[in-house]
Amino acid sequence: KPRELIWIFGMLIYLVLMAEAFMGYLLPWGQMSYWGAQVIVNLFGAIPVIGEDLSLWIRGDYLISGITLNRFFALHVVALPIVLLGLVVLHILALHEVGSNNPDGIEIKKNKDENGIPKDGIPFHPYYTVHDLLGVAVFFFIFFIVVFFFPEMGGLFLEKPNFEPANNLKTPAHIAPVWYFTPFYAMLRAVTVDLFGLDAKFWGVVVMGAAIAILFVLPWLDRSPVRSIRYKGWLSKIALVIFAVSFIILGYLGIVPATEGRTTAAQILTALYFLYFILMPFYTRMEKTKPVPERVTG
Ligand code: HEM
Repeated sequence: KPRELIWIFGMLIYLVLMAEAFMGYLLPWGQMSYWGAQVIVNLFGAIPVIGEDLSLWIRGDYLISGITLNRFFALHVVALPIVLLGLVVLHILALHEVGSNNPDGIEIKKNKDENGIPKDGIPFHPYYTVHDLLGVAVFFFIFFIVVFFFPEMGGLFLEKPNFEPANNLKTPAHIAPVWYFTPFYAMLRAVTVDLFGLDAKFWGVVVMGAAIAILFVLPWLDRSPVRSIRYKGWLSKIALVIFAVSFIILGYLGIVPATEGRTTAAQILTALYFLYFILMPFYTRMEKTKPVPERVTG
């Protein structure tokens, strides 16, 4: 509080960005493009009653075809970028209503000078323009090293099967999404039981969807009296480390082929992922927090 709306817009940006990256990946029309899209579009088929029609509607054909390529191209280069731009505008508008947070989690508007200007506030320009320029420069430095010298990154950034043109008669031995999707993919594959007359694939989709959906409600799960991790207790810090490590290992498990042992590991890590959120209302209230200073400490 009071930045829940900013968070929601941020999550919507994340969601649309995932759709954008997924559709972009079909465009090179390689083997992994084709079969990756095949796997993901078929997931919608697992939804009861409407599933089959829904995946047919997304593909625009009975299989991934030129029609699918055409619409994914239009969505990728025009439709979703416009949606993204709109969401970014709303994100910033929502931020301007309440103002930026700071690493201490202090509401700087509560401490104003005689002119009504927050004492701990600084002008965006030149302070943040210069500050952000450094980040941009460091980003481009690393980005261009990758683009010009290591574009494949050992198959992690550009997967081997995608250098082979799409072939609907030849399924690659091992289909996996690109690394930034693999934690969620590992959670999808971790579900192996049929329940209530619905198959494991459907529940896998539910778990994967829930893994993203639960992020939307994060602002309401954190019941801590303090905002910043600086003043939270040990439980929050330990929980965060376990969560981050679980997510990274899930990312690894999503890249490699599944074995029995790896599936069990993915199940445990998926449970840890969800426990981080489900237990948050409890551990953020139970733990002893440190006193928050009156002014920003820098
Ligand atoms: C943040 C926004 C974007 C993301 C995350 C994104 C993501 C991607 C990804 C993952 C690919 C597959 C690359 C590959 O494996 O070769 C791709 C391809 C492509 N994207 Fe985007 N994209 C974005 C914005 C755009 C925009 C704005 C345009 C055009 C106006 C565009 C045009 C293309 C084209 C033409 C390809 C096919 C190129 C190829 O791989 O040979 N993308 N995109």
